[in-house]
Amino acid sequence: MPALVLLGAQWGDEGKGKATDLLGGSVDYVVRYQGGNNAGHTVVVGDQKYALHLLPSGILSPGCTPVIGNGVVVDPAVLLSELSGLNERGVDTSKLLLSGNAHLITPYNITTDKVTERFLGKRKIGTTGRGIGPTYADKINRTGIRVQDLYDESILTQKVEAALDVKNQLLTKLYNRRAIDAGQVVEELLGYADQIKGYVADTTLILNKALDDEKVVLFEGGQGTLLDIDHGTYPFVTSSNPTAGGACTGAGVGPTKINRVIGILKAYTTRVGAGPFPTELFDEDGEALRRIGGERGVTTGRDRRCGWFDAVIARYATRVNGLTDFFLTKLDVLTGWEQIPVCVAYEIDGKRVEELPYSQSDFHHAKPIYETLPGWSEDITKAKSFSDLPKNAQAYVKALEEMSGAPISAIGVGPGRDETIEINSFLS
Ligand code: GDP
Ligand code: IMO
Ligand code: MG
Repeated sequence: MPALVLLGAQWGDEGKGKATDLLGGSVDYVVRYQGGNNAGHTVVVGDQKYALHLLPSGILSPGCTPVIGNGVVVDPAVLLSELSGLNERGVDTSKLLLSGNAHLITPYNITTDKVTERFLGKRKIGTTGRGIGPTYADKINRTGIRVQDLYDESILTQKVEAALDVKNQLLTKLYNRRAIDAGQVVEELLGYADQIKGYVADTTLILNKALDDEKVVLFEGGQGTLLDIDHGTYPFVTSSNPTAGGACTGAGVGPTKINRVIGILKAYTTRVGAGPFPTELFDEDGEALRRIGGERGVTTGRDRRCGWFDAVIARYATRVNGLTDFFLTKLDVLTGWEQIPVCVAYEIDGKRVEELPYSQSDFHHAKPIYETLPGWSEDITKAKSFSDLPKNAQAYVKALEEMSGAPISAIGVGPGRDETIEINSFLS
């Protein structure tokens, strides 16, 4: 079982950090393949809580080598502060590997993210403001700055000057902001060069050799399927590919190497930022899910929008990722509801639709068609096996599994590492 992808099956914040950490002790490498510090992955180990943004969650498992792949966008200031924060808490981060091909989030990318959102007004995406979109835009425009550029001052200067030539026109003439000085940006970036040099590596070569040697590699996605730039609810998406194919391009590993794709799936649904969300609740049930589930963003502190489980989304995630398994999280949050509605299909312009519509206009009009399942009131946080769950909780899980198109191989019943019911091993 050499290579697994673990990714979000909804709109992010499904519990990827906890799931990755759970496997961290049994795998040799954990690789982030896309996104950047827009992610906020929470890991709870005993009485310690960690919020990771850029670093792979495997960094908390001593035997595991954490890798930041070429597909990630890296804010060097955030990288260094996250590393020193962990070092202060006694976590050894010395094994980290950082791809020399990863693109850097520059100060002007962060400025651009903020000014373009402001410019969009009520049409804004609700980004995390971390410079993610503008950095990927520069990458695609072939005006990006890569980690390796930090080690050639002349190339770095030429690239920063070329990027700012155009951006300063926009900043001053369109957005009414001050121009950014290329020399200052170069100086700031060069200030990080020596501090991160020890981590920089040819990660594609290392990972492919590891796979040839039968080492176990786990690819940890950021965000989620419905935030994918190609397969998500465009334009209300992030600017990378969290879906399974992103693991190949974002780490330089062929699809033939990957044999398991695990979708992390919350037992209800949440979303942060703007965009369509058919099962969103605006009543006391939504408020209760937010309160009981602690649904507040790890990165921006924004309240998450909450709603019932949406099986259409789950089926779609199975399809576009080729999921082999689901890890169902936060089942414990649903304890106490007498009845739990689950969206099984949509009504769009009077017609019943079973699959996610490709048309944005249709999706914006989609109304959920619910089936109501009986709830349970028993505390499930101590459950260790499926049979420990109350009958109605078992039936809820089985119903979700049937609707979603892949086996539910693990169930989260609390935030802690050990608050997990394992049904099928992910590593066999
Ligand atoms: P990620 O971005 O996918 O890693 O998820 P976040 O960390 O942003 O949000 C998930 C939240 O749910 C975190 O606070 C986790 O500690 C918590 N969590 C994860 N799994 C469970 C679970 O099974 N039950 C409960 N109650 N909390 C969980
Ligand atoms: P994790 O990895 C939830 C959302 C933002 C916004 C959109 C675009 O913790 O699941 P961006 O800054 O990426 O350009 O913002 O994507 N978003 C997330 N929502 N969880 C995340 O990460 C997210 N990362 C980005 O709220 O709607
Ligand atoms: Mg998160």
